[in-house]
Amino acid sequence: MPNSSSDPNIAIRPAHSADLEGIAAVHAKSFVRQSNSLEWVAATARSYPRARYFVAEHDARVVGYVVWVEKSGFRAEAVVELEQIAVLPEFRDRGVGRALIESLMDVDEALRTRNAHIKAVLITTRLDNEAWRLYQTALGAEIQATVIDLYSADEVIMVAKNPIEHLAKSHLAKK
Ligand SMILES: CC(C)(COP(=O)(O)OP(=O)(O)OC[C@H]1O[C@@H](n2cnc3c(N)ncnc32)[C@H](O)[C@@H]1OP(=O)(O)O)[C@@H](O)C(=O)NCCC(=O)NCCS
Repeated sequence: MPNSSSDPNIAIRPAHSADLEGIAAVHAKSFVRQSNSLEWVAATARSYPRARYFVAEHDARVVGYVVWVEKSGFRAEAVVELEQIAVLPEFRDRGVGRALIESLMDVDEALRTRNAHIKAVLITTRLDNEAWRLYQTALGAEIQATVIDLYSADEVIMVAKNPIEHLAKSHLAKK
């Protein structure tokens, strides 16, 4: 399983409780309209294994995270939401986001221990946030709908079908 970004000094790994403050710091810097970062992150982490955080670590510091959330009950064919992803501004544009997305392969492996697998990934993001390009290239996600004025602006709903296959292919292509 891939566990690093293209920067050899950045490792991608599952989060543990000592990471919550670091994750909250990245959250606070990345989502300026959202408040009470530590409370939000801690509440989400408590819903493990429904929610699973992975962090990008540089020099013992959390510089990015992703949180995957299983939707609509524990199913054999699981639909997982990429609920949030963020990287500290000074670490962006060097492949950390893409490496964090590859942690979905770890989630799939974990689900397989209960005879489940990931069928699809759901993502919502602001229409004007070009991060959707990352979801398209990394996961093969496609825009399915646009919801007018949802959180703070119009929001696109994206779905990636067969995301593990897509990740495995693009991981092999990188080698
Ligand atoms: C979205 C985010 C996590 C991407 O992290 P990153 O480490 O910069 O992403 P990467 O370097 O792995 O980018 C991978 C690819 O996606 C593209 N990409 C990523 N974010 C992009 C953006 N905001 N606009 C345009 N392209 C983007 C990159 O150009 C790159 O393309 P390439 O591989 O063809 O060169 C980061 O920009 C971020 O933290 N943004 C603020 C929080 C946010 O908006 N999160 C998403 C909503 S939940």
